[in-house]
Amino acid sequence: MENLVAEISRLKQEKNAIILSHNYQRTEIFEVADFIGDSLGLCQEAKTTKADLIVFSGVHFMAESAAILNPDKKVVIPDPEAGCAMADMIDVEGLLAMKAKYPGVPVVMYVNSTAEIKAESDVLCTSANAVKVVQSLSEKRVICAPDKNLADFIQSKIPDKEIIPWDGYCPIHQRLNLDYVKQARKRHPKAKIIAHPECPLEVSEAADYCLSTSKMVEAVKNDPAKEFIVMTECGMIKRLQKVFPDRKFYTLCSMCFDMKKNTLEKIRDCLVNEKPVVSVDPAVSGKALQAFERMFNI
Ligand code: 13P
Ligand code: SF4
Repeated sequence: MENLVAEISRLKQEKNAIILSHNYQRTEIFEVADFIGDSLGLCQEAKTTKADLIVFSGVHFMAESAAILNPDKKVVIPDPEAGCAMADMIDVEGLLAMKAKYPGVPVVMYVNSTAEIKAESDVLCTSANAVKVVQSLSEKRVICAPDKNLADFIQSKIPDKEIIPWDGYCPIHQRLNLDYVKQARKRHPKAKIIAHPECPLEVSEAADYCLSTSKMVEAVKNDPAKEFIVMTECGMIKRLQKVFPDRKFYTLCSMCFDMKKNTLEKIRDCLVNEKPVVSVDPAVSGKALQAFERMFNI
């Protein structure tokens, strides 16, 4: 592995490349990453990087977002098959039908969606800013898609709005349940519970914190507790364990196999070959960028 890490570092320098990694990636990828973060942080990093080549170690919609935000850069993904089950739960035809059913109601789209879906949306959001984005809109009714759990979470925080949800979800977070939270609380009474807003609302409400993956790292940093029960994709506890070796983390095993498709070997190969390239049709990309810009301006 050491040779591979050295080879990747050399290739990055030669090609003026940057490796962006999501928090759920394999821990060995963190060794070569220039930035590790949540969807919002990764978007901001992709938007502002001066690198010529962006290697996106995450899932496809994330690499696509980088291509939309920085169209002059070449974006490559270690494994083009790394998709997102939630992003696949919404299609353009269905979204257009929903918009026709609720004319004039703004569409807030979670970034876990394809470029085509983003292009048909008014404004985007991530788990880190969803409540703030919806709160900023003057309209009382708002369509939130594709995650029904995130929509429920937003509704619970902004009761004076009427949130119209799409019926999508993340299968990895959908599995996380209240029974586990109750059992884990009994077993680790001093532990704080951190959930992700993609969890069912009963889990989010039972937790001490409900945060995006990067905000989880901040929360642990600022909380004196020694133990944490982490309700999100189970690889997240490896990230937390690496940053906080003196704390203990417990989770329920629920893995996103798409996130784990990327490996150091595939990262090396895509640096050497500068492919597979992720690109977006300029007509789609321009409209999706407007929805991104509205999010950044909030
Ligand atoms: P974050 O933006 O909180 O990292 O979430 C992304 C994701 O896909 C969670 O499943
Ligand atoms: Fe998509 Fe869920 Fe995997 Fe996140 S954890 S990338 S929402 S399938």
